[in-house]
Amino acid sequence: MRIFSGIQPTGRKHLGNYIGGIVQYVAGQERGEAIYSIVDLHATTVAFDPAELRELTYDTAAILIAAGLDPARCILFRQSDVPEHTELAWLLTSVTAYGDLQRMTQFKEKSAKQRELVTAGLFFYPVLMAADVLAYRTDEVPVGEDQRQHVELMRDIAIRFNSRFGEQFVVPEARIPQVGARIMDLQDPTSKMSTTSASEEGTLYVLDEPAQIERKFKRAVTDSGSGVRRGPDKPGISNLIDVLAVVRAVAPEQVEREFANAGYGDFKAAVAAAVTEYLAPVRERYNQLHADRAALETVLAAGAERARAIASATLADVRDAMGVGTPR
Ligand code: TYM
Repeated sequence: MRIFSGIQPTGRKHLGNYIGGIVQYVAGQERGEAIYSIVDLHATTVAFDPAELRELTYDTAAILIAAGLDPARCILFRQSDVPEHTELAWLLTSVTAYGDLQRMTQFKEKSAKQRELVTAGLFFYPVLMAADVLAYRTDEVPVGEDQRQHVELMRDIAIRFNSRFGEQFVVPEARIPQVGARIMDLQDPTSKMSTTSASEEGTLYVLDEPAQIERKFKRAVTDSGSGVRRGPDKPGISNLIDVLAVVRAVAPEQVEREFANAGYGDFKAAVAAAVTEYLAPVRERYNQLHADRAALETVLAAGAERARAIASATLADVRDAMGVGTPR
């Protein structure tokens, strides 16, 4: 089974990325042939700084390796090093409906937030994402809940391509975690945790120091009333229960049972302690890895070479099926 996912080198990675994405990437190494891409081309769809983009790409690579991605057990590469992605994205536009792209909620949300230029790249983003996945004839795509619509679109694109030009693509399935697919902002538990959140305090970064972790959980917005249990009237506490469940690798029900008689203060302190312990080794390994640009570059270059061998074979088939380019 082949697994593919992508992560953007934008901003600092937070607990939502970690739980919704990175934890599943690490697990994927045990379950199949795992391929992960740091999608720098996707990061150019909103305002960005070129020097910073380069830095954040290394930074993201260091976080992924620190979290447990092992270049001997997966392919880890930088998207722009495999130009087949951009070529395939163009070819896929021929079977992508303009109206479908207009319906993408992430495009609507992100374009509404742009102060200056709403780029064509932002509109086109899901097609490049489809190319990322389809180029590897991927079976499974581990992502958080916010990417479900994009995976559904790439399935539609694959199905339409296969019926128009012959069976070229595997129709991929999203793999969305049961718990933690949508980690919420600690200050506003009705919005998802994100890099572009209104408040720093609401976003828990993977590299936050223990004191910051403790402060952010202590100040996390909870709900009126009492009782550590999940429910639609308790978005703050529900979110913290999910976080603790994932970090301890237990079911949320077990967390509810354990803290049935606890107050919010004690519960928040327990979440902070568990998350601190959980992220400490990641931060430590990150500190050892991130300064060595040459070593990171070596990993990414080797990954790109392996990725390219797979993607270029797919592209040769796709070009042939579509009748573009010199005949084989
Ligand atoms: P990115 O970098 O924004 O997010 C990386 C992963 O983190 C998940 N995520 C969350 N999960 C739970 N709770 C949250 N609050 C939260 N915020 C983010 C995202 O769902 C994602 O899995 N479009 C992708 C990048 C991409 C990609 C791909 C993914 C490009 N090509 C091909 C899969 C396959 C993205 O937004 O990543």
